Amino acid sequence: MQRILITGALGQIGSELVVALRERYGCDAVVASDIRMTPARDADGTGPFELLDCTDFRQIQETVRRYDIDTIYHLAALLSAVAEEKPRVAWDVNMGGFYKVLEVARESKCAVFHPSSIGAFGPSTPRDGTPQDTIQRPTTMYGVTKVAGELLCDYYYTRFGVDTRGVRYPGLISYVAPPGGGTTDYAVEIFYEAIRNQRYSCFLEADTCLDMMYMPDAIKAAIDLMEADASRLVHRNAFNVAAANFTPETLAAEIRKHIPEFVIKYNVDPVRQAIADSWPASIDDSTAREEWDWAPSYDLETMTTDMLENLRKKLG
Ligand code: NAD
Ligand code: SER
Repeated sequence: MQRILITGALGQIGSELVVALRERYGCDAVVASDIRMTPARDADGTGPFELLDCTDFRQIQETVRRYDIDTIYHLAALLSAVAEEKPRVAWDVNMGGFYKVLEVARESKCAVFHPSSIGAFGPSTPRDGTPQDTIQRPTTMYGVTKVAGELLCDYYYTRFGVDTRGVRYPGLISYVAPPGGGTTDYAVEIFYEAIRNQRYSCFLEADTCLDMMYMPDAIKAAIDLMEADASRLVHRNAFNVAAANFTPETLAAEIRKHIPEFVIKYNVDPVRQAIADSWPASIDDSTAREEWDWAPSYDLETMTTDMLENLRKKLG
């Protein structure tokens, strides 16, 4: 039986991953944790929750021992825009925290899921159809920590036999929890504003093309990879995964099919634009498709329909 610990469980991914894993493995088998608490104390209120700072080795160690954890989904991190504002904190949390999680995993023989990002690439990376194995010279602190995290995953697997696995997520779109301060947050905000005010002021330029993914596919990717047949995994870590590819203008046009009066304007934030410009316009995820049968269920059209339907219910 799996005993799972999720760090950063109250964030955008964790809020839905906790629910999905509890449905799959049982409520008591999944320990949600975060450095903060919601008023309800828990991600979904159906299972154990621990206040846990991932930069505190003893706290991780005690939690893993107390619950007899064998798998850690390590989600705690600062996202790209916040990390550019606070690079020192980003290094401490994204790098220091992950190193401690890996050390506990080594000691307690846990498997580890590590979400890397398209932010692990940089301006010298081939920009279109970015291959699985290619140049990685990111120009952001977020990217630096993601590349180092990918390398640490490989190191802990080859050196210590820790079962590390991970993907490079594109921008993630969801209606459950708000995004945590990334460069791709516009693709979530736009839906809220389209429903509330039928207008949105976008902080990226109209033609900024990036890969994006709907949260159900992101959750599926994490669980499918962690359950994949290890003998098929040549790469194990940092798999490119993609689902949809669009610009703010294309997304606005898709939303307009449902809300014809929707208007998008642009008030570009130079910091986040520079980050987006340093990332690939599109990535090639054929390696994930080959090694563990990765296939997304949502494209731009089906995601937009589902987002609007669920967000309308949520916002009343
Ligand atoms: P998020 O910002 O929504 O959530 C992160 C959570 O970590 C927050 O709840 C926060 O309270 C918690 N946290 C921060 N510092 C902590 C600490 N010291 N100890 C414990 N918890 C701490 O992030 P997310 O979108 O859920 O992303 C999770 C992971 O996935 C991150 O590694 C992120 O880089 C990666 N990722 C996310 C996206 C995306 O679009 N959301 C894309 C690519 C990769
Ligand atoms: N969505 C994330 C961000 O913008 C990508 O890792 O930071």
